[in-house]
Amino acid sequence: MSTAAKRAVPEPDASKVTKAPRGVVLRTPIPGPRGKAIVERDTQFLMTSTKTAPVVAQSGKGVWVTDVDGNRFLDFTSGVGVLGTGHCHPTVVEAVQKQAQELMHFAGTDFYYDIQVRLAERLAKIAPGKAPKKVFFTNSGTESVEAAVKLARWNTQRPLTLGLIGSFHGRSMGALSLTSSKPAQRRRFNAYTGGGVHIPAPTCYRCPYKLEYPSCDVYCAKILEELYFNTVLPPEDIAAFVAEPVIGEGGYVVPPKEYFQLMQKILKPHGILHVSDEVQAGMGRTGKWWGIENFGVAPDMITTAKALGSGLPIGALVADAKLDYSYQGAHSNTYGGNAVACASSLATFEVFDREHLLENATEQGNHLVKRLKELQAKYECIGDVRGLGLMVATDFVKDRKTREHASKLRDRVEVEAYQRGLVLLGCGRSAIRFIPALVVKEAEIDEAVEIYDQSIAAALKSVGAS
Ligand SMILES: Cc1ncc(COP(=O)(O)O)c(C=O)c1O
Repeated sequence: MSTAAKRAVPEPDASKVTKAPRGVVLRTPIPGPRGKAIVERDTQFLMTSTKTAPVVAQSGKGVWVTDVDGNRFLDFTSGVGVLGTGHCHPTVVEAVQKQAQELMHFAGTDFYYDIQVRLAERLAKIAPGKAPKKVFFTNSGTESVEAAVKLARWNTQRPLTLGLIGSFHGRSMGALSLTSSKPAQRRRFNAYTGGGVHIPAPTCYRCPYKLEYPSCDVYCAKILEELYFNTVLPPEDIAAFVAEPVIGEGGYVVPPKEYFQLMQKILKPHGILHVSDEVQAGMGRTGKWWGIENFGVAPDMITTAKALGSGLPIGALVADAKLDYSYQGAHSNTYGGNAVACASSLATFEVFDREHLLENATEQGNHLVKRLKELQAKYECIGDVRGLGLMVATDFVKDRKTREHASKLRDRVEVEAYQRGLVLLGCGRSAIRFIPALVVKEAEIDEAVEIYDQSIAAALKSVGAS
């Protein structure tokens, strides 16, 4: 144990510590002295990325994280949707330890090992649709999207991929050309070179066409054929339509239930493939294995990562087997399907089955929505509560009629929440997402909502509905 780890946790400054309910423990202001020192060194040595809150983790269990100053937080971010089975699930930890002792790496693309085949079999079995599937393993979400774009291009020999404005698909150049949830993600990168083109997304709460569902007749899908195909986007130039089943980073937007059926009807006659980006919405997050299953269609490919490995970096492209490359060497990588990551993933599936996590996502998701709707009835500034399963967000507005984004208020609520022991992340321009691990219990949701309630009240006092 290091000297730093042996040091006693500093006594809290009582005047600065916020009172917190039940499981949350706040011993110091956030960050505490040890946390503050790490944040300072991090700022000096790590490049600027997307840091949100000075929560400096030491350990985690389930939906709980303890920081380096002994503060205990409710983690409703689950490492941005990575920890479906929660922090350090014992089954996953044991499987990782066992595999690390046996075989860590052997380049699964160049050689063979059983654990990789077993994981591919499992993924092929649960992928939506009846057609046989094949799997390509990656190391991240963005790499899964790259693999999908490449496979679509290779099969169709077409240059473009079609995405939805406001979506997130990753930050490597091909995926970045589809990513469009914030200008900061694209500015200065020449994000246009990857071949991504976009149409407005089915964002009913703030419809880009100012229409109302269902009288709109899902115009946001129909306009593709009516306008775009006949003007700026010849369909024979488009290899694939790449879309999140629930738009994640862009605001937890759930499309109308017939949207993807309509899109497939438009795309199929032109030979345009459908890629469902399940990196955030997949692996049980919405209460089904894959978000697209909520819409009654089977895509040609799904991309996954995040919760697939319970914290170890692993992703996958699962595609209709007939799209597979016809010769070796077209696509490959070094680490994809790494043995330890595969062990972690197989253990993840074991936990999902044994602890009925899909059912829990639905059950606890319903409870969370019910509790957040109670807050919506209490606070005018919550314009919308939306989501599927345990992929839920509240959208803050300056005015419920105009639905103008209350971005400043949203940012302040996040700060008030972590200072009270609840870790949250924003999404879109004015929403806060709730993505706890799928092992979350009702009492933990109740505690989170209680803290959220206090945080909104404090934020309103501090910045108003701005
Ligand atoms: C839908 C979606 N696709 C792709 C990605 C990129 O994943 P990664 O950050 O692992 O590259 C993300 C990350 O948040 C995502 O939410």
